[in-house]
Amino acid sequence: MRKKIVAGNWKMNLDYAEGISLFSEIVNMVRDEKKGDQLAIICAPFIHLNSLSKLGGEIVKIGAQNAHQNDSGAYTGEISAKMIKSVGCEYVIIGHSERRQYFAESDELLAQKTVKVLENNLVPIFCIGETLAERNDNTYFEVLKSQLEKGVFGLSETDFSKIVIAYEPVWAIGTGLTASSEQAQEVHAFIRKEIAAKYGEAVAEEVTILYGGSCNPKNAAELFAQNDIDGGLIGGASLKSRDFVDIVKAFNS
Ligand code: PGA
Repeated sequence: MRKKIVAGNWKMNLDYAEGISLFSEIVNMVRDEKKGDQLAIICAPFIHLNSLSKLGGEIVKIGAQNAHQNDSGAYTGEISAKMIKSVGCEYVIIGHSERRQYFAESDELLAQKTVKVLENNLVPIFCIGETLAERNDNTYFEVLKSQLEKGVFGLSETDFSKIVIAYEPVWAIGTGLTASSEQAQEVHAFIRKEIAAKYGEAVAEEVTILYGGSCNPKNAAELFAQNDIDGGLIGGASLKSRDFVDIVKAFNS
């Protein structure tokens, strides 16, 4: 059985007090309302991670949004996977389109980061997604295949089996434009097929593939009902406790 996951991505939002307060609300609501065995994760800015993991890390898991590709050294301003692990974090988002776009993170760099995250016994949530231009000119399957090949298909089967994939069409992130459940399912099935071709059916069947991009309490249940969609990576809606927990509950509706 594939793991069902709803992961929030707070991005660069919330000061320390606001983060503690929102996370406490989410933990209390998830404790009371979560029914199935789906996993809730909050990927927070670095400054929050230590406190959040102590506040309720067993109910809502904690993730970071980035990690450096080395363990330590003269890299002013950076944070390593080893440091992230040391505060009780379990997940790290790698390759979010905002990192690819604003911080020029290449497929090759993201492959190195993924290896380092796994070496530190953290789970990478590896993001792929096409731009609007790539969707409109129908090259999106090639783009996604290339992101998979360069980013994660260099992993051994054992390592690949540990990762989570997130499909986040760039045109749907923060825009209010959600991929329709048919569009998302089409891509998720394609991703699973590519994984099966590389690692075999058994591995492909077990990989959790999340959808991200303007997922909200209204569209989550329909998206999560698709065969190959195993949950969501939630940006804007993860900043409101009610919305985030309603998305977590969408698995049960
Ligand atoms: P959004 O962001 O839900 O605000 O569209 C998703 C993401 O970037 O992970």
